Amino acid sequence: MPLYRKTAAAIALVAFTVACHGGASAGATAGSSTMPPSTGPAMQAESMEQAGEYLTIVGSCNDCHTQGWVESKGKIPPADRFAGLNVGFRGEWGTSYGKNLRTITQRQSEDHWVEVLKTTDGGDGHPPMPWWNTAQMNERDLRAIYRYIKSLGPNPKGVPRSLPPGKEPTGPWIWNSALGLSVAVCTAADGSPMKRSACAIAMAATK
Ligand code: HEC
Repeated sequence: MPLYRKTAAAIALVAFTVACHGGASAGATAGSSTMPPSTGPAMQAESMEQAGEYLTIVGSCNDCHTQGWVESKGKIPPADRFAGLNVGFRGEWGTSYGKNLRTITQRQSEDHWVEVLKTTDGGDGHPPMPWWNTAQMNERDLRAIYRYIKSLGPNPKGVPRSLPPGKEPTGPWIWNSALGLSVAVCTAADGSPMKRSACAIAMAATK
């Protein structure tokens, strides 16, 4: 059920964003790139950046790569999106963090970005990043996401380094099975499980 509510909030936000672009497109689309042709199903929009913004919202990318996205139900302005999450995802693989994609899109080429998302980072990528989903995305859509995030400019916020199994994270973290966030349990400082509501408050407090 919470998942449905989350999706509804995301869709409402998309509708609002698209309406804004329609009304004031002159500023919003300045400097944006036109859509190259695509084979197969792909997002249609006025520009690659607009397609990318939409895809990141309906593709849930902000949930793990934008601080505060879930707690605020998607009310984070574009300038503050994709600078990474400081809540670790802990599981059999160790602890992984939703990386700062603002930094990555500034430093890495678009072709490399596509390669990483198509190949589970060459086989090295960890959960809970939904690698199996991005591997199935149309390449033009992956490029659209890259161009949108890159167009937001650098945001140098630091994200903790991922840790191997057995290493204790110093900051907040969520226990995660390979099945994803729906079975996540927050853990208190003493290692005992937290109630979901306390968990949400703890996550909001780490902002
Ligand atoms: C459930 C949480 C989650 C969601 C949803 C998610 N990510 Fe991730 N993402 C992660 C984590 C965690 C990592 C780090 C994985 C690792 O350490 O191997 C990651 C890594 C990445 C990387 C690799 C960065 C690098 O190191 O080069 C890219 C690119 C990326 N995500 C893009 C996306 C995009 C695009 C979406 C939406 C389609 C998305 N992510 C959705 C959690 C998530």
